[in-house]
Parts: sequence; structure tokens; C-alpha cells
Amino acid sequence: MGKSVKPLLSDFEKIVREAEPLAPHTWFHLGGPAEFFAEPQTVEELAALVRRCHDDGVPIRILGGGSNLLVRDDGVNGVVVRLSAAPFNEISVQGKLVTAGGGARLGHVISTVVREGLAGLEPLVGIPGTIGGALHGNAGSRGGDVGQWTCRATVMARNAEIIQREREDLVFSYRQSSLDELVILGCQFQLDEEDPQELTKRMQKMWIVKKASQPLGHQSAGCIFKNPRGISAGMLVDQAGLKGTRVGGAEVSDRHANFIVTDADATSGDVLRLIELVRSRVAERLGVELETEIEIW
Ligand code: EPU
Repeated sequence: MGKSVKPLLSDFEKIVREAEPLAPHTWFHLGGPAEFFAEPQTVEELAALVRRCHDDGVPIRILGGGSNLLVRDDGVNGVVVRLSAAPFNEISVQGKLVTAGGGARLGHVISTVVREGLAGLEPLVGIPGTIGGALHGNAGSRGGDVGQWTCRATVMARNAEIIQREREDLVFSYRQSSLDELVILGCQFQLDEEDPQELTKRMQKMWIVKKASQPLGHQSAGCIFKNPRGISAGMLVDQAGLKGTRVGGAEVSDRHANFIVTDADATSGDVLRLIELVRSRVAERLGVELETEIEIW
């Protein structure tokens, strides 16, 4: 990458930093640095950076809330972008239509719509991360997913072109979406009207159930594996007798076996080795191949 490094830094000096540790940006608090880390302040600045990376063949990735991500100990080459600036975080409500920026927190969007008496997203209460991350992986729970309420998305392709995707071009399935362009700039949800007090009560109940069954607040990410054919991966890992299994500072959670919790001295390598150990034991003991849900950089 040598030749493009210096100009990239000097041309985007205001928004790009070098050798930024990524661990503090992830829920696991693990992993190495990003070669370059950028926080563009406007869509135009983002587009200029994306175009430049495209032209120079520099790898570029978008960091969401870091809650579904494990960064390897070596870190990542190229540019990591965080959509932290105000223009990427706006949330607005017009009747039953809600517009949200890709960098907005899903949790903020949920609390805003519930307060406004708009129903649909409340079963997602407690899911961390940004709108962009939620749409990219069609975040959801047993009560529904983000895709079913999405009527439009605005994305930026790898060549910096901005494209509107309407409902008919959007395909969402279990933890998957057709939104595979580089950046999800924002989206629109169409929700249902409901009494805000009833809605708040329902959301609070869901939140209590979730908090009781998952190790939220530990040094962990969300579920590690996808549920194979609708069967709880956590239940399978549990049935294989793997709760409490450790590699270094990483351990299969006792509360929910599809979570890995880590000690302060854990490395990303510990988590990766534990994932492989769990996968091979579940395959050997139950004959099921588990696939990871978290992103690994
Ligand atoms: N179970 C066990 N042992 C465990 C974990 C679960 O026996 O260690 C049993 C439970 O007792 C229950 C069943 O498995 O009877 C299902 O458990 P749960 O309701 O927790 O659902 P899940 O299928 O394990 C999925 C999502 C979660 C989401 C919950 C609740 C996936 C991979 N997981 O878990 O999503 O919060 O439903 O809606 O789809 C995530 O995607 O990151 C995530 C946490």
C-alpha cells in the first residue's frame, strides 16, 4: 500500500488518524489497530475519501457500533470509517414514517419511536449497534427484525455513487440483507400507530426478559453463531456441554451459551480459538456445523 499512504494522510489530514486502536471501539475491547481511521464530518467528505480509496485500491471498511465485531490481534490494513458526525446520526419522525441516519444508534431510534407512539421496532429493544449495522445484518429477535419495517435505504457504493433502494429492491432474511454496498447512509421505516403507554410497557417487559437471559454488559459481543435452521445455537452449545469452556481469557457464557465473555487479559486469538473449539465439538457431538454471526476483521 506504500505509495498511497502519505498522500492519503495529507489530503485527508482533518479527518484521518494513523494507527488508531480499534479495541475501544468494539464491545469485546479486543484486537489491534486500524492502519487509518477516519471520521468524516459530511457526506461529501465521506464520498471524497471513498472515491480516493477506490481509485488507489486502498481497503476501506465501515465500523458500526462495534457490538457484532471481533478485530484480530494484528489489526486491519487500510481505512476504517466511523460515521460519528451529526449528519450521519439524524432521526426524524413524520407521521408513521421515520428517517434515520446509518450512524444513529438503533437504541435511540427505538426509544424515539416508542415515545412517539409508533410500533414495530420495540421487539428489538436491547440490541446494540447502529442503524447501518442493524440493516446490514438484518438485526432482530424472535419478535421480528429490522428489515420488515424498512421501506427505503440510501447507500453509497464503493465508487462513491449514492443510490436509493426502494422496498422492492430490498431483500431481508435471517441475519442477512441485500444491502451489500459499502455504506448504509440512512433508511426509512414505516411503522404502526399505537398508544405510547401500552407500547412502553410492552417494551419494558421485553427488555426485562432479554436482560435475564443474556450476559449483557460483560466484555462480550452479541450471539457468536447463527441459529442453524431456526434451532437455538446457544441451546446446541449448551447441550454439547460447553458452557464455561475456556481458552486463555475467553469463556463460553454460563448464562447463554451463544455468548463468549472475556477477561481483561484476553486476546482476540483466544476468542477465535474458542470459536473453533466450540464449532468442532458441536460438529463432533451433535453433527451440526455452526456458522459465525459476528463479523471478524
Ligand atoms: N437455551 C439453552 N441454553 C443456552 C441458551 C439458550 O438451553 O445456553 C435455550 C433457551 O432456554 C430457550 C432456547 O434455547 O429455550 C432459545 O433461547 P433464546 O430465547 O435465548 O433464543 P436464541 O435462539 O438462543 C435468538 C437470537 C438472539 C436474540 C434471542 C431472543 C440468534 C443467533 N440469536 O437467540 O440474538 O436476542 O433469540 O430473541 O439468532 C444476536 O443475534 O446477537 C442475538 C443475541
